[in-house]
Formats: sequence, C-alpha cells, structure tokens
Amino acid sequence: MIFTKKHYDRQHVFGLEKGINHFYHGSIVTGGSKSHNYELSSKLKNDPNSMTFVGNFTVIGGKATEDLARKIATKLKGKYLKSELRIFPDGESKITVSGKPKNGKIVVVQSTYPPVDSNLIQALSLVSKARKYSSQVYTVVPYLGYARQDKEFLPGEVITMSLVANMFKAAGATKVIVVDIHSKMALNHFKIPAKNVSAISELVKYFKKLKLKDPLVVSPDLGGIARAREFAKLFGTKFIALRKQRDRKTGSVVIRSANQKQVRGRDMILVDDMISTGGSIVKAAEFLKKQKCRNIYAACTHALLIGDAEKRIRKAGVSKIVSTNTIPRKTAVVDVSPVISKAII
Ligand code: R5P
Repeated sequence: MIFTKKHYDRQHVFGLEKGINHFYHGSIVTGGSKSHNYELSSKLKNDPNSMTFVGNFTVIGGKATEDLARKIATKLKGKYLKSELRIFPDGESKITVSGKPKNGKIVVVQSTYPPVDSNLIQALSLVSKARKYSSQVYTVVPYLGYARQDKEFLPGEVITMSLVANMFKAAGATKVIVVDIHSKMALNHFKIPAKNVSAISELVKYFKKLKLKDPLVVSPDLGGIARAREFAKLFGTKFIALRKQRDRKTGSVVIRSANQKQVRGRDMILVDDMISTGGSIVKAAEFLKKQKCRNIYAACTHALLIGDAEKRIRKAGVSKIVSTNTIPRKTAVVDVSPVISKAII
C-alpha cells in the first residue's frame, strides 16, 4: 500500500497507531518537504522491524542516550548524526552536531536524568539546532525529568513541568515522545502533540524468559495499580498493590497492608515506573520478605539509582533489578527502541 505524505499525516493524526498508548494535545504540524513517499506495510503497526518505511528521518543523538538513539536510527532506517559535548569549567554545556541532516523529519533523542538540568539544556540545544534544518522536529525524551512536578502539591510550589514543556516548544520541538512518564497528566502541560509510550510489553518479554515460581506482580503503591495490572495481564498472572505513604516534606516512606497468604513462597515482581533513591522498593521488599515471599525482582522503566540505591535494594532482598535503556545503567537490559520507533512512524 502506498501513501502520499498527505495521506500519511492524516492517518497518523487520526489514529493509524490505535492500540498504542498515546495522547495528542494541540495541533499537528504537517509541513516539510513535498518530495517524500511513504510505503507502509500492513505489519507496520505491530512490528517496526518488519516495516518497509521509506521516509527521510535523521536522528540526532544527545550524549545522555547515544546508544538508544543509534538503535532508533537503525530501526527507522534513518541517518544518524552524533553530537559532541564539552562541559566548560563553569558548568555550561557546549554542544555541536556533527554533519548535516537529510531533508525531512529530524528526531532528537536525549533523556534528562541527572545531571537533569545539564541534560535538559543539551536536549533543548539539540532541538533548537534541529529546527534550523527542519519544520518537523520529533523530540524523544525517553526519561523526562521534572514530570513529578506537574502540580502544586503544597502551596507555593512551582509547576516546573509546565515550564519545561513550554521550553521544548520554544526551542522548536513540534512533537514530543516520552516513555512511561510518571504521570500522564504531566503531558497536558505540552502545547504541542505529546505522546507517552509504554515499555511494559518489553519488560514483560524479558521476565517471560526467567524461570519464576508462581510469580505475583506487586505495585509498591496504589498509584502504580494501572502499571501493575498491565504488566500482570501481559505476563499472565495476578497482581497486588501495597499501600505506600510518603511524607511530602521529608520524603520518607511507610508501607502498609498486603495479604500474607497471597505472597508466601511465591516469586515477587515489584513493578514501578522509576527507581530513584530506592526508598519505595526497599520498603516494599522488606515488607514482602516479612510476609515470607520467595525471590524478589524489581522491574522499572527508569533506573535513576541515585547514590547507593542499588546496594540498599539488594540488601533489602531484591535479587535482580531490571530496567530499560531510557537511562544507561548496568541494570538496563531491556531495549525500548522498538516501541519508540513504532511511536515515531
Ligand atoms: C512514585 O510515585 C514513583 O512511582 C516511584 O515509586 C518513586 O518515584 C520512586 O522513588 P524512590 O526510589 O526514591 O522511592
């Protein structure tokens, strides 16, 4: 089936990708070169590896997620441009894009994990450079920092997510793609199309290869129920959610409730969107151990693993931490380039 570019953009906007976890906000930009032809195979929706997509993509990889950016470029059959980074003595980032993009869409890939503000300014710089070359700049921020600051929890707090969203638009992004954003409400702050992609299916594929005993999926808090449900459904098992309470001022965490009978002797898969200080996973693991579970595995999309988080998590009884390459870490054994590429096309 051959689509002209006009057809392609209409299909894209009105739901070619139905079934993929996504939202759109604001208007869709459909400008760009008129000379593109797009061939889409009927399998395109399900398998980006099977696509026969003839598009002019250039992928620019930021230093934070260079390997993931290369993988996305390969999947899109696009040109890859690397960026060079120098950090000046005063902390400023100097970023240079090597080479020229092809005519067509540009995909910028850069996570904003710590140092968050440096990685953020590098992402914005790459977007602004890309916009000089193309009217369509897809900005992939696999891990989006500041997504937890999407509302005023305590009086006087700044909604920094809203500022970050405006900065991406001001820099020239025409569409934003993120992976397992902490709160989907955060996407409402973008005044350009913004889409969330789920990594759960890829994490589940990994866990299916492990030989687990009577596995039970566990969310460390009630806020993660939807995530645990999705994981359990794809994995083909049941899930429970613990009740976590966090003190908004001190950040300390307490876990309450869980039915001991559901846990005893079974392997646990703790599923969370991110592990930051490890506090939530540590408390949950200690709690589950007391309930006499068997092995505990921790699955997350974004392993920030601040400070000695990994050590404390293992000490709490977690035998394996599994994360994705939205953040390059030793634990990042799951590749999200297939789901991101599918969202781009
Ligand atoms: C919180 O609601 C999130 O889903 C994570 O559970 C949390 O951000 C993890 O942070 P930490 O590892 O510091 O407990």
